[in-house]
Amino acid sequence: MKRILTYGTFDLLHYGHINLLRRAKALGDYLVVACSTDEFNLGKGKRCYFSYEERKQLLESIRYVDLVIPEESWEQKANDVREYHIDTVVMGSDWEGSERFEYLKDLCEVVYLPRTPEISTTQIKNDLGLSARRDA
Ligand code: CTP
Repeated sequence: MKRILTYGTFDLLHYGHINLLRRAKALGDYLVVACSTDEFNLGKGKRCYFSYEERKQLLESIRYVDLVIPEESWEQKANDVREYHIDTVVMGSDWEGSERFEYLKDLCEVVYLPRTPEISTTQIKNDLGLSARRDA
């Protein structure tokens, strides 16, 4: 059983996210998604439209996703790889070569997949003129 892990916020779930998750799952048999918590995002100055629980529920309803865990810190990744017996960490190409992921190559395979062009959560928010959050 080959186990894959990916990280992300996945706010306002869109087809770029689905493409990423489908290709990530196709690299193995079991896909774990670490979804960033609202507290972790706040620390990065990022506010989501959907709450962590809402984003988690959406991710859990996707056929390619086997397990959703919280991403609560930058430092948890090595521990996640060990705890969930991960073979491959997958990220979109916006993270290619990033120190946030490269060091994991000592522990597992790290794969960057090309981003789907012309779609992002930021783009959706801008196009719709949405505030950062529903209650903001
Ligand atoms: N992703 C992708 N193609 C896109 C958008 C996202 O492959 N068009 C991937 C990212 O590279 C990442 C995962 O989906 O591996 C989650 O990305 P996230 O940052 O949550 O989504 P974005 O749409 O990029 O959000 P934002 O605009 O807030 O950065």
